[in-house]
Amino acid sequence: MPVIAQTRVLGSSLAAEQLIDAVERRSGIRLSPTDAAEAEIELRIDPAVAAAEGYALTVDERVEIVGADEAGLFYGVQTLLQLLREDEDGIWGFLRAEVRDAPRFDRRGVMLDVARHFFHVAEVKKFIDSTSALKFNHLHLHLSDDQGWRIHIDSWPRLTEVSSATSVDGHPGGFYTKDDYREIVAYAADRHMIVIPEIDLPGHAHAIGVAYPELVEEPVLNDGLISESARMGQALPVHGETYLGWGVGHSSVRIHEDRTYDFVRDVVRELAELTPGPYIHVGGDESLGTLQADFDLFAERVTAIVVEAGKTPIAWHEMGSAAGIAEGTIGQYWGKTTPEGTHAEEAAHFVERGGSLIMSAADVAYLDMKYTEDFPLGLTWAAVIDVRSAYEWEPTAVLDVPDAAILGIEAPLWSETTRTLSDVEQLVFPRAAAQAEIAWSPKEAPERVWDSFRTRLGALAPLWKAEGVDYHPADEIPWSTR
Ligand code: ACM
Repeated sequence: MPVIAQTRVLGSSLAAEQLIDAVERRSGIRLSPTDAAEAEIELRIDPAVAAAEGYALTVDERVEIVGADEAGLFYGVQTLLQLLREDEDGIWGFLRAEVRDAPRFDRRGVMLDVARHFFHVAEVKKFIDSTSALKFNHLHLHLSDDQGWRIHIDSWPRLTEVSSATSVDGHPGGFYTKDDYREIVAYAADRHMIVIPEIDLPGHAHAIGVAYPELVEEPVLNDGLISESARMGQALPVHGETYLGWGVGHSSVRIHEDRTYDFVRDVVRELAELTPGPYIHVGGDESLGTLQADFDLFAERVTAIVVEAGKTPIAWHEMGSAAGIAEGTIGQYWGKTTPEGTHAEEAAHFVERGGSLIMSAADVAYLDMKYTEDFPLGLTWAAVIDVRSAYEWEPTAVLDVPDAAILGIEAPLWSETTRTLSDVEQLVFPRAAAQAEIAWSPKEAPERVWDSFRTRLGALAPLWKAEGVDYHPADEIPWSTR
């Protein structure tokens, strides 16, 4: 094991700085940057070494990481950090390795719901640190829902003035100023993550109606909402008043009002201005009180507005019901691994319209489902998902579409039950690592099997401890202590 005391890192790249800082957080040893060619660790870029985002890593007497691009260099550094060990004598070094690697899918996403509970900029940055270390490259922020609106919009200021103060159960809310949001986007970019903003429409819109009642219909109280609210002791939604429960499917913006589209256009324009990434997510899930024809009309108009703003729309798979959804819209499938009802058909329509699909199968990839029935955090409506179930699924085997239509996966964390970032982390880690491996590694790789994964996963415990990540020590995994 080449030891790291007195090790020098060649180059002054951001990746070098990130490596030096991470090694220090873990071991207390600060590597020194140098210009000397004989440095013990060398980081460089060579596009010929691997496909985009790929890298070659050699750990022998010297360490060499060659990224195909900046992202590849960053991912090579993350792999090297996974090889850092302390032996019984307290000596730190890297395990020997020879790796040449590139991702299977371009899309390796996680989602954080900052609407049901709000997470401050520093918390989002920590979430970016811990998920980018697993080589996730997209962060989807669910910025609006019935319970709150979380991003300042200059042209509709009451959204944050009035509708951001609270979260689920009356817990504190909050919102991002535009500068906060730019700070998150820049921080993510330094870790090779593209931020995808989502404004959930036409449903999940109650908070919009607290700020601007004329934009939103009276709540539609379905039987499920009434019985669930009674069971949970949560008050039913009232038009124009803050909603603190987590029932779904009761709200909709007014689909036949021109003012609604003035609103949507303004929000999309301001979000597009803040968003260097190519995507704006317009929601589309669970509009249970909306007539199908109205929903489809809205889906067509909202996706066209995103295209007009120069961005690619993303929508939850329900919007695939709209025959004329904007060409190229990306669908996000959140049905089960065995599709139910019209879900598969709706998802396939995105492909028919020249779009593609992100797979977030709820019974395996939803990070907010409980690990076991008695786990204190999370929900169970899609499934109880232990680490093995999170790992053993195949994103191209769910829907009857060409493999090339599957962009990759996204693992969402809905925050109804997660009041703190520690709560979030206990649900996300270790299962996000399972989704990360499915998204990164070829399915035929010999190591892409549970027995190999659980051992390698166990070796992440010391990294998470060093970074203060509150992972759930699931008893399926042989956790390492050093
Ligand atoms: C969803 O879980 N409602 C997308």
